[in-house]
Amino acid sequence: MQLPLQIKSFDHYQEVYQQSVDNPESFWAEQARTFDWHQPWDKVLEWDFEGPNVKWFPGGKLNITENCLDRHLEERGDQTAILFEPNEPGDPAISLTYRQLLDEVSKTGNALRELGIGKGDRVCFYMPMVPELAISILACARIGAIHSVVFAGFSAQALADRVNDAECKMIICSDYNKRGAKTIPVKEVVDEAMGLGCPSIETVLVHRNTGGDIGWDPSYDKWYHEATEGQSTDCTPEVMDAEDVLFILYTSGSTGKPKGVVHTCGGYMLYTAFSFLNVFQYQPGDVYWCTADIGWITGHSYILYGPLLVGATTMMFEGVPTYPDAGRFWEVCEKHKVNQFYTAPTAIRALMARGDEFVEGYDLSSLKVIGSVGEPINQEAWEWYKEKIGKDTVPIVDTWWQTETGGMMISGLGGHSPQKPTFAGYPLPGIQPCLVDKENIQEVEGNPASGLLCVKFPWPSMLRTIWGDHQRCKNTYFSTVPGMYFTGDGARRDENGMYRIVGRVDDVINVSGHRMGTAEVENAIDEHPEVVETAVVGYPHDIKGQGIYAYVIMGPGDHNGDEVRKEIIDIVRKEIGPIAKPDKIQFVSALPKTRSGKIMRRILRKVAAGEADQLGDTSTLLNPEAVDDIIRGKR
Ligand code: WT7
Repeated sequence: MQLPLQIKSFDHYQEVYQQSVDNPESFWAEQARTFDWHQPWDKVLEWDFEGPNVKWFPGGKLNITENCLDRHLEERGDQTAILFEPNEPGDPAISLTYRQLLDEVSKTGNALRELGIGKGDRVCFYMPMVPELAISILACARIGAIHSVVFAGFSAQALADRVNDAECKMIICSDYNKRGAKTIPVKEVVDEAMGLGCPSIETVLVHRNTGGDIGWDPSYDKWYHEATEGQSTDCTPEVMDAEDVLFILYTSGSTGKPKGVVHTCGGYMLYTAFSFLNVFQYQPGDVYWCTADIGWITGHSYILYGPLLVGATTMMFEGVPTYPDAGRFWEVCEKHKVNQFYTAPTAIRALMARGDEFVEGYDLSSLKVIGSVGEPINQEAWEWYKEKIGKDTVPIVDTWWQTETGGMMISGLGGHSPQKPTFAGYPLPGIQPCLVDKENIQEVEGNPASGLLCVKFPWPSMLRTIWGDHQRCKNTYFSTVPGMYFTGDGARRDENGMYRIVGRVDDVINVSGHRMGTAEVENAIDEHPEVVETAVVGYPHDIKGQGIYAYVIMGPGDHNGDEVRKEIIDIVRKEIGPIAKPDKIQFVSALPKTRSGKIMRRILRKVAAGEADQLGDTSTLLNPEAVDDIIRGKR
């Protein structure tokens, strides 16, 4: 079996990078030819960033699951594809070989077809990290259905919003979810979402996970095990165009409701495989573990598709980093002799805070590459990761990317790149980042430099549109800097051209690696009947990276602050989910505004960060007195 190119040194990287920029089409075509296609593409690339209109390999026909599964049978049919580590450390790990995984995917694919799901239909997932999640996602891809996975920590309202936006025909869920010492009633949330109104849903397919009691509506509820029982292990793959939609994944932006980011089959396949091989320097037989949840893009690209496409053994972990204690990650690394480990700074910081005794004593000598993703990693966490987990010898890859980019964009390549704490490093082959001056919107050349992080040229796994709202895709990503993709992040380049991501420059915050729009949280808080106005900002938080700070103006009358805080938190839980609940709520009598009535968030951010001494000139505000009031009441 052929694999995409794997870079072998920094010199090699520089040579390949140059080729990929000088001749992107021939570079990517050569990589794409290493996969199985039913029919070759008509052309490699068609694009303009004004539309935007981006097509990679249009006319090319494929099914991504044949490349994830069927194609491996000959060489590694009996090798473990997915290694499942359950929540309870005492329960046995489950291993699914490539052959078994294909059989299971085929059975589920046939079951979905029997339930009326076909090419282009949307299927929503609301499920914990169990093997059936991976199996059913791949089953959708097998039959050409579009999966839309919703992280199982979102509320019923958030689930219903996503189901309705994509007009899904089916929800696949489990009865309950085990996370650490908790059991979470997943089906109950789905029932609640159905109660809120999900008119497009025909079937709720329920996977029996814990076997606990659940509500049942015979008009749409069906058991997963009954639907898949007796199904054939042959499932003809739907032949897809490279530009047919593979999946939708919702993510937060600076305004409005979450956006359904759309990814397509061919380019996504190519780029997730290519980037996985190169960043992690995966070698046959290695055991790779990404601790993300499949509900986020990291899980899509680097638990499922990327690793399976290159025939890797990929681990899926049901539990949490601190159960039964803060040594669980390292216990699992030792137990399964993990070679590549990929996690988020927030997890690193949380474990670091529990003390080194939870790391000591575990044999981590199998590790060859350790990775970080999701938010900027602070130097202290980086050093701890390097020393305690990497024993000062294992390379760290700090991978910068986004839901919209589909795959890792700026990162070291295993041990083949220079590494520097808090710097993601150099762009992957085919990725052409640049920095743009915020004031005059011109590219900043030379080093060192800083500015808005943009990308100048299309890459295979970039988003194609926002589901149902192409204009929003254009406005959000392709209008700020004409002719470029704008990431929403600010970045710096050092004297050697290495990139450091500084953080979001828009009203998006990153809480424990979870991306959140401050506007979404504000809209939720506004649902409180006595709240008049609110402004939400992020502030530095030791473990979460950013915490959520809400400034709230209440209507007339007396209010019991503690009670109202509790009510506000409950509303946010209900509207979005527990991940969005404010860490601090400060009641204020006014918000600082400009003469044109815009809230001055810069001031609110400074106060929340405890940097009120750096406010600068506030005299041009409409209501400068509001600032003193806010500083006095800081929580
Ligand atoms: C935002 C994207 C990429 C999968 C997980 C998050 C921030 C992500 C890094 C990093 C600094 C990072 C950015 C980006 N981010 N990785 N290595 N260093 N910042 O995906 O939810 O779409 O969030 O996460 O701000 O824009 P996402």
